[in-house]
Amino acid sequence: MPPPLPAEQIIALNKPKADLHTHRAYTWNGWEFDVPPGVFIPGATSRMIHQRVLDDDIDVRGRVYAAMGVGLGVEAIVAGLRGAARVHALDVHPASVAATETGYHRIVGNDGGTEFLPQVSDLFAGLPDGTRLDTVTFNPPAVSRPVSEDPDIVRNVCAGTPVTDAFFTQLAERDLLAPDGAVYFVASNTADLRHIIGHATTVGFTANIHHLHDWNDGVLTYLFRLTRDPETISEAAAASGTDSATEAATTSEPGPNVEAGR
Ligand SMILES: C[S@@+](CC[C@H](N)C(=O)[O-])C[C@H]1O[C@@H](n2cnc3c(N)ncnc32)[C@H](O)[C@@H]1O
Repeated sequence: MPPPLPAEQIIALNKPKADLHTHRAYTWNGWEFDVPPGVFIPGATSRMIHQRVLDDDIDVRGRVYAAMGVGLGVEAIVAGLRGAARVHALDVHPASVAATETGYHRIVGNDGGTEFLPQVSDLFAGLPDGTRLDTVTFNPPAVSRPVSEDPDIVRNVCAGTPVTDAFFTQLAERDLLAPDGAVYFVASNTADLRHIIGHATTVGFTANIHHLHDWNDGVLTYLFRLTRDPETISEAAAASGTDSATEAATTSEPGPNVEAGR
């Protein structure tokens, strides 16, 4: 697991675009979206998840799925079309949840068998106790350096380890992941991967590298598949340490490396 890139490289790579507070357009898979102000516009890293839900590599069919930090809502829409049993579309940003609802009703409609539950929620706070999730995805704002002081950019890009730590801690402590469930979590070495995966391991997850993309500019993006270890989960949930032996707990899964363009 690589250490974070040097701060100046991270800041240079993540120069915020000036247009976040404007209406923008996004097109993918033949769908056109209006992206309201403040809503994250999906990039190639987002599509590492979106395409895999579409292709059933991240298989949500008949499953309870939580799209954490859903943003524009593409992964929730795709999950509805693929036949998830239930889609929890969660974001702390009300305009993102509203955009997700609009897109979902326009593209998926109301007739399918999927229960669609959009919700403004700080991580999992809005989910009732006893919720069991089969599949969770998160493209978090994990960049480890403050690339802007704009709170909307921080929320979308660089909230860092407080958010990623709380994400795994809540999943573990509230026992939200079904025993055979999986978390798909995407982050690059612009984030502190050792800390993030070390913390996930500490609270009882086992991390596998489901996909790794080298952008040939120093950035390596990892799509992790994390599962919980039933033997240690309750014990580990009580622990709060971080920076544990990440290398030992992380293994690679075979898989194609097919992304192009960040
Ligand atoms: C990098 S964007 C990803 C958006 C979308 N999933 C995608 O891949 O295009 C991160 C998203 O996480 C949301 N977010 C940040 N902090 C959050 C929190 N504490 N709880 C829920 N969502 C959060 C942001 O509002 C933003 O929509």
